[in-house]
Amino acid sequence: MTAEQGLRGGMQGAVLSFGADVPPTVTPAGARLRTADFVRADLRRIRIEDKRVINGATDVNQLVPFKYRWAWEKYLAACANHWMPQEINMSRDIALWRDPSGLTDDERRIVRRNLGFFVTADSLAANNIVLGTYRHITAPECRQYLLRQAFEEAIHTHAYQYIVESLALDEGEVFNAYHEIPSIREKDEFLIPFIDTLTDPGFRTGTAEADQRLLRSLIVFACLMEGLFFYVGFVQVLALGRQNKMTGAAEQYQYILRDESMHCNFGIDLINQIKLENPHLWTREFREEVAELFRKAVDLEYRYAEDTMPRGVLGLNAPMFKEYLRFVANRRSQQIGVEQQYPGAGNPFPWMSEMTDLKKERNFFETRVIEYQTGGALTWD
Ligand SMILES: [Fe+2]
Ligand SMILES: [Fe+2]
Repeated sequence: MTAEQGLRGGMQGAVLSFGADVPPTVTPAGARLRTADFVRADLRRIRIEDKRVINGATDVNQLVPFKYRWAWEKYLAACANHWMPQEINMSRDIALWRDPSGLTDDERRIVRRNLGFFVTADSLAANNIVLGTYRHITAPECRQYLLRQAFEEAIHTHAYQYIVESLALDEGEVFNAYHEIPSIREKDEFLIPFIDTLTDPGFRTGTAEADQRLLRSLIVFACLMEGLFFYVGFVQVLALGRQNKMTGAAEQYQYILRDESMHCNFGIDLINQIKLENPHLWTREFREEVAELFRKAVDLEYRYAEDTMPRGVLGLNAPMFKEYLRFVANRRSQQIGVEQQYPGAGNPFPWMSEMTDLKKERNFFETRVIEYQTGGALTWD
């Protein structure tokens, strides 16, 4: 498939149907995709020991008995973190953006490029979940989280659209950036084949080869899309907020970062659970292939950093991101048990660790949950 097809049409046509009188579509290994398969399959009550994250044969319509409590707990935490874009006041951003001397050209470039990437990225993420991942996962606790995650991706697309509308940016320019700006397009071209694997209506798990394809796509989505490709943009907009500029947009980004941090951690838990249940998939060859994908993704995100910051801006510059992306990639590698590709890489933005999962995810969520629920404002220290 060409990149053009990938960006323009690669994810069309993935339609699920649950016909009542269709024969069960069960592969030899047991991957079931239709509701009818579960309803007809087995009248025995569900036993925890029979549940599986992939290729399970237990009824996906029965949430309990719980086996994957980590997924259920993340679902509850995600619901407790609920927020909506229009709750955030954008009037200071609007005034600053309209003021000809309010922001430098380089700062405006960062905002435009950022939105150019993110306005479509979260739609790709939503497609990946709704049309792809969801139907291949046979643990209902995990499906429950994925449903919440899908809604959060819609909220993120809404947030980016809300910023674009608030600032009266050229919608055509921003929403077409993933076709027209090479540094954005290259990131999406890297991702789309992995999304297409899962959204392909003909794709079924149940063989080692297919299960490895699924696992590879899950790793790319959680560790490289949500876990790496978002991070140059997050640092840039949060750096604006720390300098008291575009504080409404920065606040939106901070809520999004909190959600994405949990998406990434859920994806990593999912990957590790699949590894645990299917150790034969985790071959040396597979791990080396994953490491190669990590290196490629770091290069692409670095190119995006160079494109968005041709000069130093906000105390940031592209070379600082070389180190940062290596640091983040090492962390993701370690989380899924792949050899770190950049030994000794340090974190030039320690303040980001306060806002992300990189050091103390649990603390982060606990504090933010309380702040949000009591209506406290986010702060920029
Ligand atoms: Fe998102
Ligand atoms: Fe996400």
